[in-house]
Amino acid sequence: MSLISLGAAASPIAILSALPQEQRGLIALLQQPQKVIHANRDFWLGNLHGQPVVLALSRIGKVAAATTTAALIERFGVGRIVFTGVAGGLGQGVKVGDVVVATELIQHDLDVSPLFPRYEVPHYGKARFHCDPVLSALLFEASRNALAHESLASHGYADACVHQGLIASGDRFVCGADESRMLRDTMAGAGHAVMAVEMEGAAIAQVCLDYGVPFAVMRTISDRADDSAHVDFHDFV
Ligand code: ADE
Repeated sequence: MSLISLGAAASPIAILSALPQEQRGLIALLQQPQKVIHANRDFWLGNLHGQPVVLALSRIGKVAAATTTAALIERFGVGRIVFTGVAGGLGQGVKVGDVVVATELIQHDLDVSPLFPRYEVPHYGKARFHCDPVLSALLFEASRNALAHESLASHGYADACVHQGLIASGDRFVCGADESRMLRDTMAGAGHAVMAVEMEGAAIAQVCLDYGVPFAVMRTISDRADDSAHVDFHDFV
């Protein structure tokens, strides 16, 4: 399978989102947009602020996200991957409207115990996958600048802030106060203090590690993964 030629010498940066609502604003900004269909997915090639980029939807869940990530690397030759989307807040003080920039990702629903320690990905010797520190620092700075923008106050997020920390991924929309408390406490008991929960990041992290591609993840908090998470999620998105 051949790489799509993007003309420019630099490898493009991929910007991944899970949902069309999360991606729409990026497509609107894309210069010289070109849509390529591959693996039953739409990939948008073009330029953003003079940088070659590929925009894609991971779709929802770890398997779909892994497929999209592998396609971005194998077929489109991306050199870096950034994920932008929403997540449920789990950590103390992580509220709707805040941003969490991941330092590491973990799969909260992976359990091959007693063969391997709980959460450990077999044959990788670890449960947590590190994000690229340079990309993550850029996301942190960009998020802080965006939240300082005065128009956010008019949307009711005047005190929104940016956190950095561990994000947990799993094939489950966490929607219950008891469930989210149990998830947070169980993971904390195993030494994993989780700030936010979503459904794709750790899969992207694992594929990126396999290919040696730097990646980073930023998530805006749409809900608190509690009893009203499904309503809050829809309202926020
Ligand atoms: N993405 C946004 N909110 C979420 C939640 N509560 N659980 C899983 N993924 C999410």
